Amino acid sequence: MLPYFPFGQQFNDKMGTYPLLESDRLIDVDEQYPNQIALKRQQLSDLPAYYYQTLPDYETAQWEVLELVLENIARFFPDSFTLHRQDNQWIWQNHILNEETAFTFGDTQTLPNDPLDWVGRQVQEDLILLSGDDVRLVAGQLCFGNDWCLDEKLGLPFWQIHAPIVSIVEPMMRAAQTLMERLPVGRPVWRLNWSVKVSDQLDMTSRHIPTMHQLLTDHLPSLIPDTIGDQLYVRVERQTLTRLPGSGAILFGIHTYQNLLANEAIDPERAARMAQVFSTTPSAMLAYKSMTHFLPALLEYLHAKSHR
Ligand code: HEM
Repeated sequence: MLPYFPFGQQFNDKMGTYPLLESDRLIDVDEQYPNQIALKRQQLSDLPAYYYQTLPDYETAQWEVLELVLENIARFFPDSFTLHRQDNQWIWQNHILNEETAFTFGDTQTLPNDPLDWVGRQVQEDLILLSGDDVRLVAGQLCFGNDWCLDEKLGLPFWQIHAPIVSIVEPMMRAAQTLMERLPVGRPVWRLNWSVKVSDQLDMTSRHIPTMHQLLTDHLPSLIPDTIGDQLYVRVERQTLTRLPGSGAILFGIHTYQNLLANEAIDPERAARMAQVFSTTPSAMLAYKSMTHFLPALLEYLHAKSHR
């Protein structure tokens, strides 16, 4: 079962943000950790400049991200990670992977990669940095992006990042713009996003879009109510937004979870809630999420599962 389930009574046209409390983890470490870290590192080794990018002059903000992330996972997962700090001499121990890294905090030469690129290889989350009055995407490590990539969005302000969906959910995006401009230090928030996919491939960055479209086209004829639940995946992103105190930049963290739709629909309550949300989602949003063609079969399947 998915640890987060963003389906309620109907499609939510609000931002859906909640405060991220001191007791809430910023970063999640789950049983997928070793697999997902290996996958991420492979992608970064194959195409480093596609999965990690930065504009110049954001090194200080990158070090702030590194500090925040390491402190947070060492606090919430003390059996798995240890951070020793002596002035600027830091030692990071990753007990899951049996790795130790010693470096001088603030001196990028002492790390094998840029601070954001290095710390991103320690966590399952994608890590994106936004900065400035118009909240531009200034750096990021994005390995498990859902239908977007850094090449398309680096340097763009928040509003333009969302250009494809602004006309569909404009009031929500206006509220989100204000939230991004005013997010206070020490008051991080989180929200969930969902999609329904024909594959459970984690890396759905833009270079895979043609293959994914083809896969969907090939599968469409067999997406029938009896079996559709075994052919689709629910993909959920837990997104966090944290204002960094020194640089004023914002860290946007994205943890992607997925499960076979049938495994979620085993629970009649979950099946009913998915049906309620999908059937009230604006048609332009369904088209954006590439769900239009299989929606009738999916709703028929979910209605049957809701009444067990
Ligand atoms: C409260 C904050 C935010 C809200 C309410 C929000 C909302 C949304 C919504 C509704 C979508 C449409 C897709 C879907 O629902 O699956 C979307 C897509 C997207 N969001 Fe956000 N978002 C937020 C923050 C961010 C941030 C900080 C970034 C930084 C990079 C971001 C990047 C994207 C991208 C790249 C897409 C895909 C756009 C495309 O198709 O080109 N979002 N967002």
